[in-house]
Amino acid sequence: MSKRVVTLAHYYTAPAIQQMADKVGDSLELSLYAKECQADTIVFAGVRFMAETAKILNPQAEVILPDAGSTCSLVTQTDVKRLAAWRQKYADHVHVAYINSSAEHKALADWIVTSRNVDDIIAHLYAQGERVIFSPDRNMGAYLNYQYGYDMPLWSAVCEVHDRFNENSLLEGMAAVDGPKYLIAHPESPLPVLKRADYVGSTSGMLDWVRRFDREPDATIFVATEDGILYNMGLARPDLKISQAPIYAGCQCNQCPYMKMNTIEAVRRAQNGEGVRIDYLTPAQMDAARLPIERMLAFSK
Ligand code: 13P
Ligand code: SF4
Repeated sequence: MSKRVVTLAHYYTAPAIQQMADKVGDSLELSLYAKECQADTIVFAGVRFMAETAKILNPQAEVILPDAGSTCSLVTQTDVKRLAAWRQKYADHVHVAYINSSAEHKALADWIVTSRNVDDIIAHLYAQGERVIFSPDRNMGAYLNYQYGYDMPLWSAVCEVHDRFNENSLLEGMAAVDGPKYLIAHPESPLPVLKRADYVGSTSGMLDWVRRFDREPDATIFVATEDGILYNMGLARPDLKISQAPIYAGCQCNQCPYMKMNTIEAVRRAQNGEGVRIDYLTPAQMDAARLPIERMLAFSK
C-alpha cells in the first residue's frame, strides 16, 4: 500500500506552495491538523518549529521539513540555557511561551500559545490570580501588557520580519494614499505600529477581518505582516484594495526569508521523501514539550 503523504503550508509561503498543499493555515490550524490527520508522512512547508510541533503532536508520522535553513529569528535569538535561568528567577510565575519556539524551549513552559489564542489564555490565567511571564516575543508581550494592563516580565527576542515595521514609514506611506484607509497588524509588530492598528490579530484573524470587511468599498487596507497572506486576502475579497504596509519607500521586503525557502523544488523533493526528517527529538523531549501544547489545544477546542 502506498504511503499517505500530507502536505501542510503556512499562509506565509508563496502562492505556488499553498497550491501544492492539502491544508493551508496559521500555526494553530496547522498544529491541530497535524495532530489529527491520518498521515504516514507530513511535509511541513513552514519553518522548523512548526514541523517539530507537528512531530510532537503526531509522533507516529514521519515529518519532513523541505529546507534545513527554515528557522525563525524568535528561535535563533533565544539561548535556552539563559531562558532556563530566567524562568528560574520567576519560579512562582506561570511561564507562557509563544509557539514560535524550539522544542527545548517549549519544555520549559507551562502553556504554549499562538497569536490566535494568546489573549484568551493569558486573560484566563490572570482571572485565576496567576502571575505570568511571557517568552520569547518581546513585541507581542509589550502589546499584551499595554492592551490589558498586565505587568508580565518579558523575554527579549523579536521576529526579524515584523520588527521592521515602523510608525513613521507607515504614516508616511499611508498619507500618500487618498481615501479611507485601515491598518491591520500581526502582534509581532512593534507597539507604536500596533497602537495605530484598527485590528491586531493572527494571520487567520486578519484574514477573517478582511473577509468580513463591510465599510467604505473604496477603502485601502494596509496589512502589517508577511506578504504571503495577501494572496489569501485577494482570493477572499478580490473587490478590495489591499496593500502591504510600507517599511520604507519602495521596499517590498515584508517577506520571511525562512518561509520563502519552501520552493516548489524543495517541497516536491520533500514529498518524495527527501529533506530534513524531524527524528532528532527524544521521547522525553517530546513528552515535556507536548504537555504545554496539549494544554493550549484543550483550551482552544
Ligand atoms: P500565526 O500564528 O499567525 O500563524 O503566525 C506565525 C508566524 O510565524 C508569524 O510570524
Ligand atoms: Fe519567524 Fe517572523 Fe518568519 Fe514568522 S515571519 S517564521 S516569526 S521570522
